[in-house]
Amino acid sequence: MTQFTHQCGTKIVFGQGVKGLGREAAAFGRRALVCYGGGSAKRNGILGAVCSELAEAGVAALLFEGVEPNPRVTTVERGAALCKKEGVEVVIAIGGGSVMDCAKMIAAATMSEGSVWELVTRRAPIRAALPVLTVVTIAATGSEMDAGAVITNWETHEKYGIFDDRLLPRVSFLEPRFTYTVPPFQTACGAADILSHVFDKYYFTLNEKLAFTDGVMEALMRAVVRFAPVAMREPENYEARANLMWAASWALNGYLSPRGGATSCHAMEHELSAYYDITHGLGLAILMPKWLRYCCDGLRAPQIKQFGVNVFGLEASVSDMDGAFAAIEALERFLYDALGLARTLTEAGIGEEHFKEMAKNAARGGGIEGFRHLGAEDVEAIYRMCL
Ligand code: NZQ
Ligand code: ZN
Repeated sequence: MTQFTHQCGTKIVFGQGVKGLGREAAAFGRRALVCYGGGSAKRNGILGAVCSELAEAGVAALLFEGVEPNPRVTTVERGAALCKKEGVEVVIAIGGGSVMDCAKMIAAATMSEGSVWELVTRRAPIRAALPVLTVVTIAATGSEMDAGAVITNWETHEKYGIFDDRLLPRVSFLEPRFTYTVPPFQTACGAADILSHVFDKYYFTLNEKLAFTDGVMEALMRAVVRFAPVAMREPENYEARANLMWAASWALNGYLSPRGGATSCHAMEHELSAYYDITHGLGLAILMPKWLRYCCDGLRAPQIKQFGVNVFGLEASVSDMDGAFAAIEALERFLYDALGLARTLTEAGIGEEHFKEMAKNAARGGGIEGFRHLGAEDVEAIYRMCL
């Protein structure tokens, strides 16, 4: 993959490290909050590189360390309080979806006087947000190129995703080399998440087909299937890391959405993370094949079969139903054999004790729309298939 700069809503600086980050930040202000997670950004030198860029451009950096995976609303509150106290003008995230989402909500909460949880749950509107820049360190959520943020309230076991244009990062730095240190398990979880964004949100729908974007989605999913195991085996394989990184950004940046769609597996997964703090991609990997099995009937089998033929190269000259089940088995082999992820909730240490309330929450507001309408009872049945 060559170096390039691409702009469409979010300006993307690809394969160029953090070159130019200071200048980009200085265009928004002279005081930056630099958010990062549990230490990987510090260990692998990205934090240092960002701070040097900021210093050269005359931007003061205030460090905000320790954003946790599945970021908590309390962390957003702490960050926003610091921004208000210190007069921060721009927020910079170094990390994965957790740090980027937390930074986005800090940016919004800094410009608001009310409760942060009210903003997250959309009971209070976001009226403004500080500009956000991101430096991506793991290929997974696509938060670097979308207007979403997902925040958890650990006290109430609620995890909410909010989409608002004001949260869209202004500039995102995508350097595949920054992901060389991502361990195999996180690489696998990221790959499952990328796949699920295309698969869950856009590909599996009964809406009218669009050959062009269907083809792009299939190519994107083929790239994930091909390169995720390579990146796990050879962490410093640039081609593999670059493909995963750009696929992650494309999977959720809106370009693939002309057919509409829902996020059935995501609605079910967010309950798992809200109750058990499970890694997002792992929860999705457990759910995806079971959800497809639950959905598979005469109406939906042709689309599932098409997935198997065009993504996994399966035989096309079989019945729709046989092709659909072969596709689900191929997906299982990819997630559980090639990526080595847990096949069941039981393996992930999760039992059935909260299924009823989790199912009710996932189906709140009349159920989950999408490939197949799911009410609370359907969701509970799918959770049981995951045991
Ligand atoms: O905290 P550090 O030390 O940085 O370690 C992180 C973390 O433990 C580690 N990591 C990241 N880059 C690394 C690295 N380790 C070594 N080398 C590197 N270069 O990876 C771990 C996971 O990081 P996290 O940010 O939690 O992962 P991910 O990007 O998968 O983000 C998950 C969060 O994003 C939300 C999820 O629900 C979850 O809260 N999502 C956000 C979306 C959005 N904004 O559009 C959509 C998604 O569907 C998703 O819901
Ligand atoms: Zn996701």
